[in-house]
Amino acid sequence: MVDQLVRKVRTGKRQSLKAPRLAFGSLMTKKWRTSPDTDIVRMNSDLMADVLRLYHENFTVINHRMFLMYCRFFNETCYAFLDQGKVVGYCVFFVKPVFSYSHIYKTATLYSFAVDSNHRGQGIGERLLQKGIHEMKLNSVSCISLYVATENIPAISLYRKLGFRILRELDDVCGPGLKCYEMDLKLGRGLV
Ligand SMILES: CC(C)(COP(=O)(O)OP(=O)(O)OC[C@H]1O[C@@H](n2cnc3c(N)ncnc32)[C@H](O)[C@@H]1OP(=O)(O)O)[C@@H](O)C(=O)NCCC(=O)NCCS
Repeated sequence: MVDQLVRKVRTGKRQSLKAPRLAFGSLMTKKWRTSPDTDIVRMNSDLMADVLRLYHENFTVINHRMFLMYCRFFNETCYAFLDQGKVVGYCVFFVKPVFSYSHIYKTATLYSFAVDSNHRGQGIGERLLQKGIHEMKLNSVSCISLYVATENIPAISLYRKLGFRILRELDDVCGPGLKCYEMDLKLGRGLV
């Protein structure tokens, strides 16, 4: 019981943003510079039901409220892949400030990412992430980080392919009792 509580607090701390950082991060995505793409669109309320279905189908640890909150606050950095008008993949990034003694940096976290099981292995996941990485660069984000379960070989292979590196191994972030890697991709200085 106590163990479970400690894990919940740890998980929540690493994966969520406190209100001021959330608001600041959200402000940083105003006037977001976008790049056109025929199949990838920004998340909107019409697509939300499909995106939520994919989220629920693909993850065992679900935080419905947090997921919706990030989609709402970070609409510019939440992408959906459409196949004949149907959502077959999505990725949700949030942006947050990192303060050093002399500067404020913009960094991003890949909060959630999934491709429909019937559409995997077709390059959709890679295109979604490349779109996100490209727009992060366009908008001077300095670094993208993420957490992934150590056993999730497809995802880890994809992240490595796109240049992410493993920083360290952690417990309980991807779910109670699960080991995961913290990975990141450095993009540049990204001063605000
Ligand atoms: C991870 C995931 C999004 C990949 O999506 P996808 O559209 O199938 O991936 P892509 O077809 O774009 O594959 C791109 C690269 O990913 C890696 N990859 C994808 N599937 C793989 C698999 N089953 N085994 C090993 N590597 C794999 C490969 O490096 C591949 O490049 P290649 O085709 O040149 O070999 C998908 O498997 C998924 O939704 N998984 C469940 C949800 C999840 O785990 N999300 C990540 C949470 S951190």
